[in-house]
Amino acid sequence: MLVSESDESGEKRQYHETKAAYALPNDNVEQQRLELQHSLFKGLMGERIIHAPLPKDIGRAVDIGCGTGSVTHEIASNYASASVYGVDLSAVPTNLRTPLSNLTYTHNSLLRAKSLNPFAGSELGSLFDAAGLEDIAVRRYISTCGEWEGLTPEAAQFGQYVGKQTPLMCGPLMQRLGRETGRDEQEVKTAMDDLAREFEVGKGQRLWFWVYVVCGRKA
Ligand SMILES: C[S@@+](CC[C@H](N)C(=O)[O-])C[C@H]1O[C@@H](n2cnc3c(N)ncnc32)[C@H](O)[C@@H]1O
Repeated sequence: MLVSESDESGEKRQYHETKAAYALPNDNVEQQRLELQHSLFKGLMGERIIHAPLPKDIGRAVDIGCGTGSVTHEIASNYASASVYGVDLSAVPTNLRTPLSNLTYTHNSLLRAKSLNPFAGSELGSLFDAAGLEDIAVRRYISTCGEWEGLTPEAAQFGQYVGKQTPLMCGPLMQRLGRETGRDEQEVKTAMDDLAREFEVGKGQRLWFWVYVVCGRKA
């Protein structure tokens, strides 16, 4: 089931089914954001997104939470012998890239429960152990929020994206999470105001954060 809701600007956005823990929309606007984010990440990573030490002849690969399939498609293109599966809560758009014979998309009910906890990142190590993953590669990037002098063009583009998109994206997200967790309106508004303040970079100040990209291989 898809749910339509208005964001704070009154614009109608379309979301995943209400029981999903994931709070971001799944409409065209979000798909465009994911595509832009992918190309910016790729630029930041020197146009190479697969950094795990994988043999060339892997048999199967699965991308869980594949969104628009940008990464899934790159995996399938780079590992032609592999059967590659992209899984998401919502249907993956198939009109963005040329279909590949070794790539299949599924939107699932399997992972529909609160299986991807938004705070799961704090337990990444145990999650990987439980999943039996090895050869885990963790790459860390620093991203700016906004543009500074002396950045590479890729870092400047990423910083511009983060500075504009994050506050835009987080408003509706916090409203939705607030509603679903029974917070009153004032509490949600205070949290949103706090967040907006975080992103107000004053003259001469710099704001940045870490981006982690993690991948692993099933033995
Ligand atoms: C931030 S997007 C990232 C998409 C993609 N991996 C990328 O890098 O562009 C997170 C994706 O995870 C999906 N997702 C969240 N919870 C999920 C779940 N329980 N099962 C399957 N997919 C899920 C969302 O629908 C969304 O498309």
